[in-house]
Amino acid sequence: MRVPAKVNLYLGVGAPRPDGFHPLDTVYQAIGLYDDVTAGPADDWRVDVRTSDHVAAEALPPAGDNIVDRAARLLAAHHGVDVRGELRVDKDIPVAAGLAGGSADAAGALVALDRLWQLETPDDDLLRLAGELGSDVPFALVGGSAHGTGRGELVHRVPDEGGWWWVVVPFREGLSTPDVYRRFDQLHPDAPVVPTGPLAVLGALQDGDVRALARALHNDLQAAALDLRPELADVIAAGEEAGGLRGMVSGSGPTVVLLCGSGDEARQVAGTLAPSYDTVLIAPAPVAGAHLVVRA
Ligand code: C5P
Repeated sequence: MRVPAKVNLYLGVGAPRPDGFHPLDTVYQAIGLYDDVTAGPADDWRVDVRTSDHVAAEALPPAGDNIVDRAARLLAAHHGVDVRGELRVDKDIPVAAGLAGGSADAAGALVALDRLWQLETPDDDLLRLAGELGSDVPFALVGGSAHGTGRGELVHRVPDEGGWWWVVVPFREGLSTPDVYRRFDQLHPDAPVVPTGPLAVLGALQDGDVRALARALHNDLQAAALDLRPELADVIAAGEEAGGLRGMVSGSGPTVVLLCGSGDEARQVAGTLAPSYDTVLIAPAPVAGAHLVVRA
């Protein structure tokens, strides 16, 4: 299964709920940066995680404690079957980056194991299990562009007429999502119970209007991420200086994403930034959610 990273075009965050999670009003977009999850038969349970050059392998959770292990146990328990198989995860999505790479792997594991174990889990059940694994996991199944509510796990596809281009600047040292939410609470003790809504973003997507989308991009977690990592503000400024229409922190960060006017403009921005940063990637959007890749 090939599973995409995400950016939040809009991320409205409210005051924490009694369960500690924050209510979200968000618009996700799946971008062309992927992990591959492959399942094969085995008598026991094995996970093999491999990382590409720009993924910090040291930031991965220890063996047995990966979100794909949890995905396997949850799916198996749901159907009353044994956890058996060999799961290989080839990671190209940076870790602890605000790009939902772990969520993508969990979504890929659910679908790959559903096929391996011939379970034919209905979509609604798969989405519910995904939501139990993490707030961003259902979106990784759905892909495209989608409105997310609840703690992010309730997703509905939205019309998106655009073909968008992002420059993505990840950093080896990740940010912890709970830390960023904690800082958000400190910075916004008066956050509304219901977060504000993303109407301007939804309109720009429907119109395929890149300049309107650039104006409407919004991330309530950005101030918290910048407070923890002030140098990210310089990356945003450098990207906009280089010709990006608008730069922002992706989700809880620290990845900076820059919306560009075209593929050519994205290549130009990436070329200008490349000498100053370890990794600068280009990603088209929107792309499909978890999908099967047939290899020749
Ligand atoms: O759902 P997920 O496992 O991705 O969440 C990771 C952490 O991020 C949670 O334990 C919580 O601290 C924080 N979070 C939150 N509100 C959300 C989503 C995540 O506070 N809506």
